[in-house]
Amino acid sequence: MVKICCIGAGYVGGPTMAVIALKCPSIEVVVVDISEPRIAGWNSERLPIYEPGLDDVVRQCRGRNLFFSTEVHRHVGDADIVFVSVNTPTKTCGLGAGKAADLTYWESAARMIADVSRSDKIVVEKSTVPVKTAEAIEKILAHNGARGVRFQILSNPEFLAEGTAVQDLFAPDRVLIGGRDTPEGRAAVRALRDVYARWVPEDRIIATNLWSAELSKLAANAFLAQRISSVNAISALCEATGADVTQVAHSVGKDARIGPRFLAASVGFGGSCFQKDILNLVYICECYGLPEVAGYWREVIRINDYQKSRFVNRVVSSMFNTVAGKKVAVLGFAFKKDTGDTRETPAIDVCKGLLGDKAVVSIYDPQVTGEQVARDLAMNKFDWDHPRHLQPVMSATDLAKQVAVVPDAYEAARDAHAVCILTEWDEFRTLDYKRMFDAMHKPAFIFDGRNVIDPAKLRDIGFVVYAIGKPLDDWLKDMPAVA
Ligand code: UDX
Ligand code: UDX
Ligand code: ADP
Repeated sequence: MVKICCIGAGYVGGPTMAVIALKCPSIEVVVVDISEPRIAGWNSERLPIYEPGLDDVVRQCRGRNLFFSTEVHRHVGDADIVFVSVNTPTKTCGLGAGKAADLTYWESAARMIADVSRSDKIVVEKSTVPVKTAEAIEKILAHNGARGVRFQILSNPEFLAEGTAVQDLFAPDRVLIGGRDTPEGRAAVRALRDVYARWVPEDRIIATNLWSAELSKLAANAFLAQRISSVNAISALCEATGADVTQVAHSVGKDARIGPRFLAASVGFGGSCFQKDILNLVYICECYGLPEVAGYWREVIRINDYQKSRFVNRVVSSMFNTVAGKKVAVLGFAFKKDTGDTRETPAIDVCKGLLGDKAVVSIYDPQVTGEQVARDLAMNKFDWDHPRHLQPVMSATDLAKQVAVVPDAYEAARDAHAVCILTEWDEFRTLDYKRMFDAMHKPAFIFDGRNVIDPAKLRDIGFVVYAIGKPLDDWLKDMPAVA
């Protein structure tokens, strides 16, 4: 029986291993983490992450061939294949601060693997890491491992998106495995290929060299983020000219060379990957003396930041240039629908912008708790990935004066001057907006950062409506936002 151990029971490690266990009943899969509450969560009825379909997968194989444990050393020692899926935050201090990946957790995981291994192992990079990390890990393993124990390192980046993780893992567009072009390297690639081949068609499993695999992950995320910044840049021009970004995106996406997906204009992209991976790419380019390439990718982030601040400016300028003391309802806080994840969510920057202008913010999200919102709004940029080094920038008491998290959208909108939609949850499409309008101050504003509502219908109710990249109300034309 092949034994797999995965270090890191997070958004990537948890679902990926659960699906491997489901699809490969003859493989024992143990997911280990240093965080006791995380492991307790995975062993409970309420999993630590919300992901449609995941409960069902875990229920089918937990206790059979899927286990969650804090006994890191024992399970790593026993495994044939060790996946490493630990956090790789952005450095907040020192060389490359604000850009480079912090590999502290990776290095300590690698040293630990070397310490506890008494048999040969395949070590698989699962979390996104800078190009050439595999080389560094190989060196650590080679110099610290017990005599006679051999390690093969593979890069097997994960492309799942949150909210559709189970679906993506069941039917991936591709599985990428990078390894050394040596007999041992090729054998390791084959061993991992055999695991995926139990449910993924062979032609979707791609083998490359280590550096191509590592760079493909950074490049794929950069391309995806670039599409969103491209459509968001066009959305600003649409508002200025009277074009409609959904019509433009539809027409552009009909070109088979471009394709229709990932062209939805928004208040900005979020999530743990896009910004972090691009910053990392930028840093790598700078290190290799490629400033033009670095500058090209940096613009993707600049447009994303611009889109978020443009949204806040639009809210404030529309409401007579002041939101001080006004209640603003925020619908949606997660970085996208169908997840409770708030890492790098545009809602953080929008809420901080509104709070900076002294608004009173009332937030509703179907999956995000009040404690999570409080943590996010009190945190510095990039701190979310450094759980042990949190430095709150706003005290809980100050926050409570300006922010409330409420259990439904109607309560959020009661006595509010404006509603901001920041996540595209399906339920926001079918809310009773007339009921909300009746309970709000007039003029009642709605700012749709995800294009989920029909502006014409809401205007009929009486709202002043702003929707990203859509033709502006006369009201908004009279109150231009300064970006
Ligand atoms: C992304 C990649 O899609 C995935 O392949 C990789 O493994 C991890 O990073 P994820 O961040 O989970 O996945 O979600 P994704 O669906 O890519 O959305 C990222 C952000 O872009 C979200 O904030 C989303 O709302 C936004 N987005 C997405 C848009 O604004 N417009 C779109 O058209 C698509
Ligand atoms: C382009 C558009 O494709 C077409 O829809 C529009 O109507 C006019 O502009 P064209 O300029 O004739 O058409 O050729 P195209 O095939 O798009 O190539 C443009 C340039 O891009 C060429 O120099 C081509 O060599 C280059 N190219 C194209 C690449 O370098 N790499 C590619 O993957 C594709
Ligand atoms: P991702 O989104 O990439 O899955 P997460 O931050 O959700 O990242 O998960 C990473 C997990 O890795 C965390 O639960 C963290 O506790 C765990 N972790 C970090 N370092 C180690 C380590 N040395 N040993 C075991 N677990 C670790």
